[in-house]
Formats: sequence, C-alpha cells, structure tokens
Amino acid sequence: MWVGLLLLYGFLVKQIYAHIFLLDDQWSFYSPEKNFSGRGIAPGDIYSDLFRNNLTQNPLYGEGDQDLAWVGRTKWTYEKIFDLTDDITKSHEIFLHAKGLDTIASVYLNGQHLFDSRNQFVANAVQVKSILKPNGNTLRIEFDSPVNYAKKQADLYEKLVHHRVPPECPPGIFHGECNANFIRKAQSSFSWDWGPSFPTVGISRPIFLEYFDEVAIIELSPLVTKQQDSTKFNVLVDVFIFCSPSINSFILTSSIPELNISQATHFNIRCSSGKSIKISNNLSVPAENLKLWYPNGYGSQNLYKIQVTIQNEGHALAKKSAKIGFRTIELVQDFVDEANRTKGRNFFFKVNNIPIFLKGSNFIPISSFPSQNHTLRKQFLFQAMKEANMNALRVWGGGLYESETFYQLADEYGILLWHDLMFACALYPVNEAFLAEVDAEVKSQVHRLRHHPSILVWAGNNENELAIRAFWWYTPGYLVNDQVRDYVKLYRDVIKPIVNKLDPSRPFLLSSPSNGILTEEQGGVANSPSDQHYGDIHFYNEFINLWEDFNYQIPRCATEYGVQSIPLKSTMTHWINESAWSYGSKSMIDRQHHPGGIATLLTMTFLHFEIPKECGNNSTAQNLNSCGFVQNSNSFMDRFAFLTQVHQAIAIQVQTEHYRRWRGKLHPDGRGNTMCALYWQLNDVWAAPSWSSIDFDLNWKALHYFARRFFAPVIVSMYLDKNEGVEMFVVSDKTKPLLNYTLSIDLMAWTNGFKPVYSANKQLDIKPLSSIQIDIDDELRKRYNTQNDETEYVIRATLSNSKGLPVSPTAVLLPDKLYKIGTSYYGNAEVASVSKLSGNEYEISLKASGIVPIVWLDLKAPIKRKYEVLFWFSDNAFVMTQEQVKVVLKIVASNAEFTISKEDISVCHIASC
Ligand SMILES: *[C@@H]1O[C@H](CO)[C@@H](O)[C@H](O)[C@H]1NC(C)=O
Ligand SMILES: *[C@@H]1O[C@H](CO)[C@@H](O)[C@H](O)[C@H]1NC(C)=O
Ligand SMILES: *[C@@H]1O[C@H](CO)[C@@H](O)[C@H](O)[C@H]1NC(C)=O
Ligand SMILES: *[C@@H]1O[C@H](CO)[C@@H](O)[C@H](O)[C@H]1NC(C)=O
Ligand SMILES: *[C@@H]1O[C@H](CO)[C@@H](O)[C@H](O)[C@H]1NC(C)=O
Ligand SMILES: *[C@@H]1O[C@H](CO)[C@@H](O)[C@H](O)[C@H]1NC(C)=O
Ligand SMILES: *[C@@H]1O[C@H](CO)[C@@H](O)[C@H](O)[C@H]1NC(C)=O
Repeated sequence: MWVGLLLLYGFLVKQIYAHIFLLDDQWSFYSPEKNFSGRGIAPGDIYSDLFRNNLTQNPLYGEGDQDLAWVGRTKWTYEKIFDLTDDITKSHEIFLHAKGLDTIASVYLNGQHLFDSRNQFVANAVQVKSILKPNGNTLRIEFDSPVNYAKKQADLYEKLVHHRVPPECPPGIFHGECNANFIRKAQSSFSWDWGPSFPTVGISRPIFLEYFDEVAIIELSPLVTKQQDSTKFNVLVDVFIFCSPSINSFILTSSIPELNISQATHFNIRCSSGKSIKISNNLSVPAENLKLWYPNGYGSQNLYKIQVTIQNEGHALAKKSAKIGFRTIELVQDFVDEANRTKGRNFFFKVNNIPIFLKGSNFIPISSFPSQNHTLRKQFLFQAMKEANMNALRVWGGGLYESETFYQLADEYGILLWHDLMFACALYPVNEAFLAEVDAEVKSQVHRLRHHPSILVWAGNNENELAIRAFWWYTPGYLVNDQVRDYVKLYRDVIKPIVNKLDPSRPFLLSSPSNGILTEEQGGVANSPSDQHYGDIHFYNEFINLWEDFNYQIPRCATEYGVQSIPLKSTMTHWINESAWSYGSKSMIDRQHHPGGIATLLTMTFLHFEIPKECGNNSTAQNLNSCGFVQNSNSFMDRFAFLTQVHQAIAIQVQTEHYRRWRGKLHPDGRGNTMCALYWQLNDVWAAPSWSSIDFDLNWKALHYFARRFFAPVIVSMYLDKNEGVEMFVVSDKTKPLLNYTLSIDLMAWTNGFKPVYSANKQLDIKPLSSIQIDIDDELRKRYNTQNDETEYVIRATLSNSKGLPVSPTAVLLPDKLYKIGTSYYGNAEVASVSKLSGNEYEISLKASGIVPIVWLDLKAPIKRKYEVLFWFSDNAFVMTQEQVKVVLKIVASNAEFTISKEDISVCHIASC
C-alpha cells in the first residue's frame, strides 16, 4: 500500500481510492526570523534538515544539544510546490491527509488557510479539491517554536487558574526547555535525565493526497475480543471512511481469508462531503480453528490477515488490510488472602490463561529524531530482546506513540507491550482546549493501535500519581487537593472512559506505577502509592549496596528499576572528542544529566572493584579521596567505564532474580507473588552515561548479556541472605514440569584452578511456573559461610536434564568485595581460535589459565567503525570457571563484506579491561 503511488483493482469504472505521497526531498524550509533555508525531507525534522544542508554540525556530536538550542526556539516554514497528475485532477474528491505534524502548525494551500494542528499525536485530513489546480500548487506549513509556544501556554493558563503547573523547568544540568507539559509532543524532546533537548519541528509522519470518486478508507481498526466462557472470538471491524455525496449505498466486506471467514454488510448512508464516518461489521471466529498468538517463550506468534473491501455495483472501490492476532488477556487482582484482606491483592497478567511473568525492560524513543528511518535500529532492538529471553517491554509515557514498524515487530517477536499514554513526570492543564486535544489524541491512538496483539495494557501516565503524593513539586497556590482534583479529571474522568469504551480487549490502569484497584477505590490517587501489596512499583536507590538482595522490596510487579553505566569507549569517543574521554571532561559532564551521577557511579563501582593502580599505589585501601575524584587518566577511564557496566549488570541481576524468586511465594505479611521485572532501560538516544543495556551505537553492554542469562526460562539463582548466608533457588517459567533434573553445585577456590574444592549433586522435580528453594548441604553452607575472608570461594551451579544436557545458564556467585582478592589470583583469558561457521557467524574458542572474573569480548574499534558492524556474542560478560569455553559471534549487519580473524577480537576482564 505504501510503495506504489497508485493502487488499481477491480474494473476501473470509477476512480478508485488511491493516494500520492508528498513525501520526498522536494520540500524547502526556511526560517522567517533567521537567514536560513535549505531543502527539506518529509517525514523529517528541522535538526536533520539543517545538518543535511551543512547549515549546522551533527546535532548528536559534542555539545550539539546546547549549541543548537536556538533551533527549537525559532519559527520554521516548510513548503512544497507540486503539480497534479490527470488521475488526481479528474477525481471527484481530494483530501490532504497529514498523519502527524510536529507540533504547532498552520497549514496553507495556495495561500488559503486549511487548518491548524496543535498535537503531534493527532492526524488531520481536509478536503482540498476546490483549492487545487493542475500545476504549481504550493503547500505551506508554518511551525511555531514549540519552546516559545509551551511557555506562552503556561503563562496564559496561569492567568486563568492563578497558579503554575509543575514542573516548570527541568533541572539545569539537563540543558533542557521548560513547560513541556503544555504541548502535546514527546515530553522527552525538551530533555530528560537520559537524553538531550531537541524540541523537533517538522512533518513528523507521512503526508499525502487521497483521491477518489466515491469512497476512501482512512483507517481500519479491528478489535479482537473474547468473552470469558465463549468458544468464539469476536472481531469488531471499525472502518473510517470518507465518502462522496454521490454515493449513498455500498457493501462493506470484512474477511479473514486464511480462515474462510467473511461478512458482508450493506450500508445506506448519506455521505456528507468532507467528514469522515465510521462503519462497522463483526466477524465471529470459532476459537477451535485458530492458532493463538503467544508471547515469546510460550508458543508462536500467529498472525492473520484481515481484509476489508468496500464495493458497489460489483466494483471494488477501496480496500485495506491489517494483521491481527487472537489471544486473551486478563489482569488478575484478587486478594492474596480472602481471610485477611490487609495483605493486599495480586497483580499479574494471564495471556491465553497462562500467568505470564513479565520479563523485559523499558523503551525510550528510538531516537531524538524519530521521523528518520530507524527500521534497522528497531529490528536490531527487537531481535536483541528476543535473544535476551524477554517477553515484555514498557513503552514509557515520556516518549511517543510509536511507528507502525515498531508494533509490527512487537507482534512478530512476541514482545508484550505495557503501553503508557504519553504523559510523564508532570501535572497537566485541564482546561477545555487541552482536554479536547487529549480526547482527540487518545481516540485516534487507541483506534490506530488496538488491533496489535502485543499491546498488553494501557496505563494513563508515568509516575504522575506518585509525584503528587511524594510532593515532588511545591507550587504556590496549587494545593495538593487541587492537584488531585485535576489529576483525577484528566486520567479518570476523561481518558479512562475513552480507552475502556474503545478497547475492552485489554486492561487500563490510571498510572504506572499505581496501586491498581486500590488506587481506583481511593478515588484515582492512592493515599500511599507504590504499596508493595498492590499494583506495580518503581525502585531506584544509589545509596545502598545494589548487590545485596536484602535491600530490595517485595512488590507484586516491578515496572522500573535500574542504575547507570558509562557506554563502551568506542561509542563515547565516536560522539565526543577522543580527548574528552575522562569522567571530568566538559563533554562527559554535559552528557551526565543525572544529578550527582558521577559521584554515585564512582562510589558504587569502587565499593566492589579495585581502584585501578594508576590511581595511586594504595589501591586496596579503596580510598577514593586519595585519588579517585581527581583521577582522570585515559586508562583509568577505560577500566572505570567497563566496571560501571559490570556493576550495573550484577546489580540488575541481583534485583531481577530477587523478583523472579518471589514468583508464587508469599511473605507472611502478604507481600510477594511477584510477577514482573522490567528494568530501566533498553536503549539510548545518544552517547552518554545512562541506564540502558544497549548503547547508542547498538553495542550490548554487559547488562544485556546478563539479561539473556537472568531472564532464561529456567535459572538457578543464588544470593546471600543476611542471616543464613548463601541460599539457592531454581525458578522455572516453563508450563510443563521438569522431572528428574540434576543440579550440580561446585565450590571453587581462586587458589585451586578449575578444580572444585567441594561438589554436590541433587536430583530435582521442578513444578511448572514455580520458584523452589534448594536445600543446600550443611557442608557446603558451613564452608561457604565460615570462610575466613571473602577472597576464597566462588559457587557455580548448573541444572541439567535427565539426558545430562544443561537447561539453565551456569550460575556463578562472586564475592561482593572483589577488590579484596589479589588480582594475581585471577586467570587470564585469551582467544585460542576463531573459525567461520555460516555466512555471518564465527565460533570463538577461549582459553583461560584460572577463574576469570567477567570475561569481556569485543570487536576492536577500528573494524567496528570501518564496517559499521552490528553484532553480538552468544555469551559474554561471564565468569570463566573452566579452561575452555566456546562462544559464537553473530554479525547482524555491516556496510560491506569482511572476515574476522583472531586479531580483530579483544578479550579482557575486570582487572585488565
Ligand atoms: C542571507 O545569507 C546569504 C548568504 O548566506 C546572504 O547572501 C544574504 O545577504 C543574507 N540575507 C540577509 C537578509 O541577511
Ligand atoms: C554538504 O557538505 C558535503 C561535504 O562537504 C557535500 O558533499 C554535500 O554535497 C553538502 N551538502 C549540501 C546539501 O550542500
Ligand atoms: C477454506 O476454503 C478452501 C476452499 O474452499 C479450502 O480448501 C480450505 O481448506 C478452507 N480452509 C479452512 C481453514 O477452512
Ligand atoms: C528504511 O530502512 C530500511 C532498512 O534499512 C529499508 O529497507 C527501507 O527501504 C527504508 N524505508 C524507506 C521509506 O526509505
Ligand atoms: C593504605 O591505606 C590504608 C587505609 O586508608 C592505610 O591504613 C595504610 O596505611 C595505607 N598504606 C600505605 C602504604 O599508604
Ligand atoms: C492480617 O495481616 C496483617 C499483615 O500480615 C497482620 O498484621 C494482621 O495481624 C493480620 N490480621 C489477622 C486478623 O490475621
Ligand atoms: C533420574 O536421573 C538419574 C541420573 O540422571 C538416573 O540415575 C535415575 O535413574 C533417574 N530416575 C528416574 C526415576 O528416571
């Protein structure tokens, strides 16, 4: 549909519905205020166009965000001159359809004002037949500065209600813009703690002319539902059309060809020119004939094509199709103990009746310039999620309703989407004009997206409920009760009824996090949000030891938690000057938006790892003040950056496994039965210290390799209990029991090479969807818990099936204070050989001389850079506890053919990277 300019089917008696894109590089742009002009591209944005025209530097390089702050504070005009083909000129009806303008836009055609648009998330379509001429049409779109507009609106609103609406501005170190809550555009485009301020301006989604004689289909919006006890799915097929007054009857046929299901409905309708109308019919689909759609790890992602045709007098006038999936979703929130309701309520999702432990992360926008073509990037990230055994992703409320490609990938990869609506970390105005924008936005986005089986749940916003009760902002004249009143109006009274009406196929939550039913019972804003007994929580703390299990809460569902790390050196030095590769440089400080972030990274990291020697010759003292905060050498930075990644990976492992172990278990006080672990965050929009597990140049950080292991369907999980010492669990997300499996446990000493000093085997039967505690031998417990100092032992555990094949990743428990172990005890790993497997895979054989704490493999920077290689290893960032290990290097994309040899691969560990 999107490829051709013209679509032809049926007999060409009438001019059938077709469209012509106004998408190309034939736009011009200029600033009425500044002396700038150039050739623009649609869809696109002003930053990308300025850069492409050599008018500015690459915005993502160096301090581009600050240097180019003027761009978002400037008015811009985009203009295109075009001719019509005969086809178009002859057709009875012509509409201009803009899927999304970013953001404050006035649109003119041949000098006539067509419409104003004030919301990036709402499409506009208007009749233009009478204004168009065969040649020399001028389409002009005037954009106001989003920054100036937001400020103006905030000031106007204050005149109305006599208070500001917080937050006024982001913290100074974001170098961001103020009053983002007064403009309906990606809130993070005004800056965030993980990203730069680029308040984009431009034609952000496709824009085209639609032409037809009788009918045009502008949106196909199927909704798949199933009543609990029914044996049938129902597909409500809503079709939004434009139709010409020349037609008053037609037939809508909806069909699922693969299932031989079809329904034709006759309509007698008086079409009024220029307005869209909704027509509908229903398909009833017996469940027994279907292959259901499953999330990753539970079955395949079966999708069916649904097709609609509008015809009259035997001629097809318009057609459209979409892909749908059949599955059921239930959010379970029953009391954990009917006899004692104060213990709270469950909070978990069933998909096709299977309770699903949500494993995954959080998504920020794909880019600061999301209108560019990021298909490759999206594909890479979805593959990487599947590789890492994830089944869920939270689309966070400070970004965007994503592109079609994004949701198609989620459907195909089986990634369940926890989907916030796009409101985050703020209160919002509630005047009529703003609520009207919200109404249009929510209606159009829910209609657009509801057919995607991957969308699991809608949540009204990110953290706004929490913010009110935690008193994030003090705003004179705006009392907490008034904040609650406005909040409830927006999410409970305006948004919730729309979503529930248009999309009963999945649950709606007022906020994320929220206390679920309890939040609703308490009027929409809970008395005490983030209650571990209800709903979901977010958890951050940098003043505790994040490797200690007992520091964590026992929630029902964790939808955000994380800690920062510094990206790979190859990524940072790609985007800042190589000489700025030190944590105290201006570029590094400018890109660290997390208040106090550098200091906490240093202290958290060197709570565990030895401070690199160059820092002074008293490194074992772990005395940062003696050197750390002034230390800025290149080699210190190399090691420090890597150690922040390992620190992050272990911290998120400890926390994630903590949540997984609470599956199906209740604490006596009612907490537990935890069913979600979505860490913050998957991706990056620039090279900077951040919480991501995949950096801006698409390198997997240590965390992503750890995630592949800690999210595996079956894991062995170890941790140190405050009182009992070492504890061990097996957690299984398998729906079938695992019978007669063998758990092999080895106690290994740094001083004893690869030979365990103590070993034990256990036969286990593991129930489906369970977490079971392993009874550890007294001998092992005693030896481990009474070791003289922490330098001595590493525990290794593996689960294998009755055929002796490993079914879990090898679990390794490292000491907390790694710096106490003399580095002379560490083994060294080296690449023994590299051999080519298939076209894009290599087998790498590693050899080690002793236990290696966290082997780190990488492609060397020159080859990465030269061929723009995207890749991952089958395993990396692991503890090597045997002499030989083989891993596979997979090249996912590159700009040319090349081969890899031993010399192209680097290998190091925590004391040598
Ligand atoms: C705009 O810039 C061009 C070249 O950069 C210059 O020739 C022209 O005089 C400038 N116009 C104004 C009004 O400053
Ligand atoms: C921008 O500069 C590059 C390199 O000098 C040149 O190849 C390119 O044609 C220029 N682009 C435009 C639009 O002027
Ligand atoms: C659909 O109909 C075709 C032709 O009548 C038949 O061959 C096919 O088996 C049917 N498929 C299903 C799923 O019923
Ligand atoms: C976007 O990029 C993908 C992958 O690189 C490519 O296949 C596709 O043709 C591009 N789309 C457009 C509209 O250029
Ligand atoms: C190293 O630091 C420790 C603790 O700060 C101190 O006790 C010790 O004397 C120092 N050693 C040297 C050689 O400076
Ligand atoms: C209910 O559970 C709470 C939390 O564990 C406990 O404090 C309380 O004593 C219990 N009440 C009854 C009646 O058992
Ligand atoms: C369980 O496995 C062990 C070793 O793998 C084997 O010796 C034993 O016979 C098995 N038991 C059953 C009941 O299959």
